[in-house]
Amino acid sequence: MNKISIIGSGFVGATTAYTLALSGIAKTIVLIDINKDKAEGDALDISHGVPFISPVELYAGDYSDVSGSDIIIITAGAAQKPGETRLDLVKRNTMIFKDIVAKLIKVNDTAIYLIVTNPVDILTYVTYKISGLPYGRVLGSGTVLDSARFRYLLSKHCNIDPRNIHGYIIGEHGDSELAAWSITNIAGIPIDNYCNLCGKACEKDFREEIFNNVVRAAYTIIEKKGATYYAVALAVRRIVEAIFRDENSILTVSSPLTGQYGVTNVALSLPSVVGRNGIVNILELPLSQEEIAAFRRSAEVIKSVIQELDI
Ligand code: 2OP
Repeated sequence: MNKISIIGSGFVGATTAYTLALSGIAKTIVLIDINKDKAEGDALDISHGVPFISPVELYAGDYSDVSGSDIIIITAGAAQKPGETRLDLVKRNTMIFKDIVAKLIKVNDTAIYLIVTNPVDILTYVTYKISGLPYGRVLGSGTVLDSARFRYLLSKHCNIDPRNIHGYIIGEHGDSELAAWSITNIAGIPIDNYCNLCGKACEKDFREEIFNNVVRAAYTIIEKKGATYYAVALAVRRIVEAIFRDENSILTVSSPLTGQYGVTNVALSLPSVVGRNGIVNILELPLSQEEIAAFRRSAEVIKSVIQELDI
């Protein structure tokens, strides 16, 4: 029976617990936070709604309760403040992760570890390194959310259901990410051809505007309300569903790369096949030369930060 532990009951952890409870995918959800009252309050608040949803046992626990979990979701850590980049958080959150992952691995070394805390690519790599878990069992939410933002914005622009828009944001979940425009398509029609068919006279720079809005999305929301949590919780729910249902879905999760485009020793997002055992395969897309170069630059940005860390 599906058991999930969520480490960190802040905005993202609590919203993820709520979203997963609504999904009906888990039998048990454990919420863990250093502020036990906060975790207990959230667990009670969500549990009081259980008569309206599918049965789920949701409670606040401690590290011993993580044992037997199939998926451990880590959302704990310092959050991005207005004006801060995700990379600004790195030192603080690496320290926190060293402590958390060491405790978790003692009680559970069979779960899939799903990292959500920012900077997610670096913390996914840190978790992979210090946990000793194999490739595929440590993954980050990466650019699953950015790809959703991209598809949403294209869907608004083209007035098409986002589910019929196939496009990926790859690389860092952050400022150096890129849109894989060369393989973006609507109903299988490459975006260039679709634009000719559509005939709507779009501004020449509409792609740049859409991409900038994807990259700026978190900054915009953080400036307005201090944090982002609803859409990322839905992105996590999507990843969890792909795992529990063994869907082999293609999602732009972040994971340690094994030589894609010549890149190793760093975790980044590429479309990856996700199933019951985590990442089954990382796909090397037929990108343009410019996109491959941008992807490698993104890897260099993250690698240069990893080199500064004591892991
Ligand atoms: C987001 O992209 C802040 O990483 C978070 O919404």
